[in-house]
Amino acid sequence: MIDAATRLYCVFGNPVRHSKGPLIHNEAFKDKGINAVYLAFEVQDAAKAVQAVRTLDIQGASVTIPFKESIMAHIDWIDPLARAIGAVNTIVNEDGVLKGYNTDCLAAVVPLVPLGISGKTVCIVGAGGAARAVAHGIAAENGDIIITNRTEQKGQALAETVNARFIPANEVTKIQADVVINTTSIGMIPKADQISFPPDALTSDMVVMDVVYAPLRTRLLDAAQQKGCTTIDGLSMFIAQAAAQFELWTGITPDTDVMRGNILTTD
Ligand code: ATR
Repeated sequence: MIDAATRLYCVFGNPVRHSKGPLIHNEAFKDKGINAVYLAFEVQDAAKAVQAVRTLDIQGASVTIPFKESIMAHIDWIDPLARAIGAVNTIVNEDGVLKGYNTDCLAAVVPLVPLGISGKTVCIVGAGGAARAVAHGIAAENGDIIITNRTEQKGQALAETVNARFIPANEVTKIQADVVINTTSIGMIPKADQISFPPDALTSDMVVMDVVYAPLRTRLLDAAQQKGCTTIDGLSMFIAQAAAQFELWTGITPDTDVMRGNILTTD
């Protein structure tokens, strides 16, 4: 149904060719009967990407690595939560005004809400952009956060912004967490043979979540499953952030089963 009225949505990133975004969003557009397409653009420069949105009247964009921070200087308005996180992963074109949001934050919480977060000790591994979004989401749900990170200074800085404790990487075996969330790229192709948290520190009563979704079953989730932990894979968060984007763009709640189903059958 592509014609002259088709609206364009896209993702900006680099690299972006492995992105599952087009699979998810195009399926959801089709499912909801919306005349729109979503394409992946591998770009070099955030300013030029934003200029393209304005020139071509692109209706909405996902923003991924490494542009989530640098894109902020080039858009017209930033949601306060995205500002606090310091990263924008979603641009909405509202009649020429480009607005920036962060849907990673809410998405990190969505898969955990049924299990309860309030009062639980949540250990977040990492202190980069993904960690900041996850930490703000967990803080908003009143989780008791512990940050651990290879670079102490970065970990400590994030811990301060969300009222959390910081634990150096070599001391994580000492903590008693209810939930462990990996936000680093450890375990992701091409680092699939690495593990982001020591398996010895996992116990069967823990919930273990990974933001990495390539591979879906990371070494961390594999170890957690073997220990009898509840596991949440990276697709859960990825789909939740995409569903929130779709809703911001169209005002329509997509069917997340349709989104997830298309990824799993296309692999
Ligand atoms: P993103 O925006 O995707 O979160 P990032 O800002 O580059 O990416 O952050 C990556 C995170 O993964 C950081 O916390 C990084 O640790 P440092 O702060 O020490 O750099 C962590 N990370 C990446 N590779 C790692 C590795 N091999 N070992 C330990 N930590 C790693």
